[in-house]
Amino acid sequence: MSTTTGTNARLAWPEDTAPLPDRPADPRFAAGVAWIDGRIVPVEEATLPLLDWGFLRSDACQETISVWNGQFFRLSDHLDRFERSLGRLRMEPPLPRAAIHQAVHDMVATAGFWRAYVQIIMTRGRPPIGSRDIRLCRSRFQAFCIPFVWIASPEVQQRGMHVHISDRVRISASSVDPMVKHYHWLDFEMGMFDAFDRGAETVVLVDQSGNVTEGPGFNLFARVGDRLLTPRNGMLDGMTRRTTIELCEDLGITVEPADLPAEMLRRADEVFLTTTAGGLIPVTRLDGAAIGDGAPGPVTVRLHREYWQRRNLGWKGEPVTYFQAPPTQAA
Ligand SMILES: Cc1ncc(COP(=O)(O)O)c(C=O)c1O
Repeated sequence: MSTTTGTNARLAWPEDTAPLPDRPADPRFAAGVAWIDGRIVPVEEATLPLLDWGFLRSDACQETISVWNGQFFRLSDHLDRFERSLGRLRMEPPLPRAAIHQAVHDMVATAGFWRAYVQIIMTRGRPPIGSRDIRLCRSRFQAFCIPFVWIASPEVQQRGMHVHISDRVRISASSVDPMVKHYHWLDFEMGMFDAFDRGAETVVLVDQSGNVTEGPGFNLFARVGDRLLTPRNGMLDGMTRRTTIELCEDLGITVEPADLPAEMLRRADEVFLTTTAGGLIPVTRLDGAAIGDGAPGPVTVRLHREYWQRRNLGWKGEPVTYFQAPPTQAA
C-alpha cells in the first residue's frame, strides 16, 4: 500500500464546490419534516404515542440515509439493511417497502433540501393496555428528514477529531445484535461524557476482550504500518464502512477486518471514522496523544477525496423526485 504518493495533507471538502441552493420550500418545513401516520408535518411538531415500546423499551430499529446534491446515497442498500434489522427483531412492517421508498422521497421533496439527513424508524408499537405480550405488538413506522448532519464540522475534520478510547464495554453482541441498527446507546452516551470530561470530542468503546468496536454513529479504520485494519466483530456493518472497503478495492488498497486491541489503535499511523453523517473523518489525537504526525494521514486524505469526489458526481445515487424542476447550478 502506498502511503506517501498521490496525496497532499489537505482534505478536499465538498464545501469547496459551489453548493446548490436548497429548493424553495414552505418556511414551516425549514427545520425539516417528519412522516407520521402517512402525513408529512414540520419536524418540530411530530409526536409519538407515549406507550410505544420504541420509547418505553428502546425497542426500535432505524436507517439513516444521506442525500447529497439531490441524490440519495445507496438507498436500496439502506432499505435492504432495514429489512434485515426488522427480520432480526421479528418486526412485521406495517407498510410495504415501496411505501417506505415513497415516503423518503416525499419527505425530502417536501422539505426541499439538496443535502439531507433522513432517518426511517420502526418501533415495536404496543400490546393492548394491561398486556405485556410482545407478540401482540403492532410495529409503527415513522421517519424524519433534516438538513445534512456532520459528526464533525469540515473545520474539525481538517485538523482531525480528538477521540477518547473508553474502557467501557460496548453492550455485548451476544446480548444485543450490533448488526441491527438500534438505539441501545446509553453506553455510548455515558462514554461521550467521559470523552468530553477529558477534552476529547467523541468516544470509541471496546468489547470484553479489549478490542475496539465502534463509536456513537461511526465505524473505525486504522493504518498500522502497511496494514489498513477495521474491527471485524461487535459493530454495525456501517454503509460508509462498506463503501470504504469497496473504494479500497477499486484503489488497490487491502483492508483487513481484524481484532484491533485498543493498544494497537494507540500505536496506529492513521485513524479515521466512517459515518453517513460526514463520510470519512480523520482522527488525529487519541487520549491526548498525536496519531502519526498529528495531521490527517495520506491514506485517509486519499480515501476522503475519492469518497467526496464520487459523491459529488452522484455515485451510487438515486435522484430525489422533487416536485419541481431543478435550478441551474452556478458555474
Ligand atoms: C453504532 C453505529 N455504528 C456505525 C454507524 C455507521 O454506519 P453508517 O456508515 O451506515 O452511517 C452507525 C450509524 O449511525 C451507528 O449507529
